[in-house]
Amino acid sequence: MTQVGIESIGLYVPRYYVDLEDLARARGEDPRKYVAGLGQERMGVPPPDEDVVTMGANAAGEALRGVDRSRIDTLMFATESGVDQSKAAAIYVHHLLDLPAHCKSFEIKQACCGSTAALQMATAFVAQRPDRKVLIIASDVARYGLVTAGEPTQGAGAMALVVSAQPRIVALDPEWGSYTEDVMDFWRPNYLDEALVDGKYSIKVYLKALTESWKQYAAESGRTFADQDRYCYHLPFTRMAEKAHRHLAKINGVDHPPAEQIEASLRYNRQIGNSYTASLYIGLASLLETSETDLTGQRVGLFSYGSGCMAAFFSGLVLPGYAQGVQRGRAEDMLHNRQRLTIDEYEAFYLHELPEDGSRYVTETHRTGRYRLAGLDAHKRLYESCAPNRQADAPVHAVAAT
Ligand code: HMG
Repeated sequence: MTQVGIESIGLYVPRYYVDLEDLARARGEDPRKYVAGLGQERMGVPPPDEDVVTMGANAAGEALRGVDRSRIDTLMFATESGVDQSKAAAIYVHHLLDLPAHCKSFEIKQACCGSTAALQMATAFVAQRPDRKVLIIASDVARYGLVTAGEPTQGAGAMALVVSAQPRIVALDPEWGSYTEDVMDFWRPNYLDEALVDGKYSIKVYLKALTESWKQYAAESGRTFADQDRYCYHLPFTRMAEKAHRHLAKINGVDHPPAEQIEASLRYNRQIGNSYTASLYIGLASLLETSETDLTGQRVGLFSYGSGCMAAFFSGLVLPGYAQGVQRGRAEDMLHNRQRLTIDEYEAFYLHELPEDGSRYVTETHRTGRYRLAGLDAHKRLYESCAPNRQADAPVHAVAAT
């Protein structure tokens, strides 16, 4: 059977963040609730000239370094915070990255699990056509109402994976366990910019979906809990992974699973927050890039959960030479070089609205990556490529429509 897996990865996070202790104090909460109770220290916040397209293009630019673009046959863009009801975010990225015209480009949605649906389709496609490669982009802005229980579990980020028959990082196992159930734990009607959530219920459904998808994975693969050396979970906040890992261990008769099975996978998320479709794969990048031990030959179990709900449990083997394939230190630099927002500045970004009347609008320049939303004209989004980190020390302003 053709070995299929992840050939390269790229990650992007916005250049601004909110410190969760600042947010807790502003909301009259004990900072320990956010830092210890939820396990989050910071959350990424995109400025008005970034969105899922620009974040996704930045991550994909990283993932495509050294990859033969002419062999990228398909671009699947997973998001639940897309910018258009019809045109796929993938098409904008296809243009920004100058991908070949034969590369099919489309968007996929099922909450945080859309990226995993893309990965499963990509593996099947590559197994059939081993000469082709698939680019998957997962990019999201997690957004709840201001002063709600969900607010400290916001965040933003993008992840890109090149899936091919020449994997250099992780070879995926063929067994997948899946679970689908119609539930209302988290949703966002078309007329709202913020997600609605039944928070405590969403945690219960997450754990039920973990149990059910694990059962199918274990039955199909014949593997036990001990057969995975490391675990990566969908990360709405890092304490969720701790709960999930204890839960999975318990249903498999293990009382105290070693913390190191998940610890390294949580590090980036603690600084970024939820990034919906990207979150599981940012956890995987965090594991591969920050683990103190050599992971070669270790099996990683991955659990993807998308509210509503659909879930999947699957696994992969870390390949020899993976450390040369990942970019150790690059994400940590990106995380350390962000600008801290005051709560007023964060709220100004949050409340900023693009015009909806078709007027011409030029977006104020903030700190971004290589791509930014330059503005709008006649209801069309205008993107541009630019030098990164311009105006590194520029003050943050609310942006007024012109
Ligand atoms: P809450 O009700 O404000 O918080 O909302 P809480 O009272 O449950 O407290 C949180 C934790 O902090 C608890 O720990 C408290 O004990 C602890 P636990 O009991 O669970 O172990 N705590 C403290 N610890 C130390 N010192 C203190 C202190 N006070 C309290 N002083 C909730 C929390 C997560 C529900 C809320 O933030 C929320 O609704 N978030 C959004 C929904 C969410 O993230 N759900 C997760 C599962 S669903 C999912 O992952 C899918 C998703 O990504 C969407 C998609 O698929 O597209 C969200």
